Amino acid sequence: MVRIDGARLNSRLEQFAAIGATARGGVNRQALTEGDREARRLLAELALSRGFAVFQDPMANLFIRRDGSRSDLPPLLIGSHLDSQPAGGRFDGALGTLSAFEVLESLEDSNLETMHPVEVVAWTNEEGCRFSPGCMGSMAFAAGSIPADWAGKRSADGSLFADELSATLESLPQAAMRPLGFAVAAYVEVHIEQGPSLEAEDIPIGVVTGIQGTRWLEVTVSGQTAHAGTTSLAYRRDPLRALTAALGRLYDAVMPVDADARFTIGRISVEPGSINAIPETARCSVDIRHPDPARLDAIERQVIETVSQASGRQRCVATVSRLFDMPPGRFAPEIVATIESAATELGLKSKRMLSGAFHDALFVSRIAPSAMIFVPCRDGLSHNEAEYVEPDHAAAGCRLLAAVTMSLASRS
Ligand code: HGY
Ligand code: MN
Ligand code: MN
Repeated sequence: MVRIDGARLNSRLEQFAAIGATARGGVNRQALTEGDREARRLLAELALSRGFAVFQDPMANLFIRRDGSRSDLPPLLIGSHLDSQPAGGRFDGALGTLSAFEVLESLEDSNLETMHPVEVVAWTNEEGCRFSPGCMGSMAFAAGSIPADWAGKRSADGSLFADELSATLESLPQAAMRPLGFAVAAYVEVHIEQGPSLEAEDIPIGVVTGIQGTRWLEVTVSGQTAHAGTTSLAYRRDPLRALTAALGRLYDAVMPVDADARFTIGRISVEPGSINAIPETARCSVDIRHPDPARLDAIERQVIETVSQASGRQRCVATVSRLFDMPPGRFAPEIVATIESAATELGLKSKRMLSGAFHDALFVSRIAPSAMIFVPCRDGLSHNEAEYVEPDHAAAGCRLLAAVTMSLASRS
């Protein structure tokens, strides 16, 4: 039985929380920024100081390897991500990555041999907020290739994805390069629930059986910019009036009628953005989530129809483009069962649940049996600087990951 060091894990979480720390106690460590690079460097240095091998692939996914008795076997992969939201929490991603590293250190401390090699992974750009889509690192890893159109993507501050990716790769010369994608025995990811149910039911462990679907849209409404003071209603073609009317209808029509639906406008902007000029263009992002793919389609159609009708009424033109489509996914029953029985053996109460958030595990599950372990977070809050995990819950999730790692890495 491998014994993890909960105090070491929680002090590591503090250490990493200082990278990109915000004044309100969260982190802003967006993908492929200096903060992201600093966190990757710190993890690589810690790994090298323990004698582990460190690699990165062309998507800057970071791997830390501890060999097994059968190094020819595909590794068991455990980990998560280190990048964060702009006003993110200290635990989203970091908890899973550092729990995985704690497991590797504990195996080393206890001199325990596994049959399969065990590798910790920190996936690149899980969040997708600086460069869309999310889960770029795990998506490319699972596909074995990097989509050609990603290189030219630009963030809101104008940074070019290709440049930021190369700078990130070059910032870690200590990591040996390896090709994109390899055979994986299984993948397990620890993550905060990012919802309220575990805390509300006082259950320390969520055994995640799958992930709901996600679809990101970009809405653009074009009208005519004109003088705010001289242009009467009859002459106005105001795209913001059209967009806000459409959004008002959609807020009332989607979530209130379907408890499983999630409809979020995270970004909205107008151009030229002058206080005394009617906008020419109004844009917004749309994040739709649902466990049922047919409902994702229906809500997307509802967005397109509602925005088009509202735009027509203002003699404006609307376009809706799809940025990201992540169908719902189910995790491997045998990994789910392994997690559940290990939790029971450790005396940890658990419950099976779906994830409302997407995760890298969804893409890895396309090429290897995968599942996730959730731990509670205070008030279910995440993507918020007040995100918090009780140290005991962090340690329990890590202890369970260690037990599951020993079980899966010892299976031929
Ligand atoms: O948006 C998500 O579901 C993930 O937390 N990035
Ligand atoms: Mn996350
Ligand atoms: Mn997140």
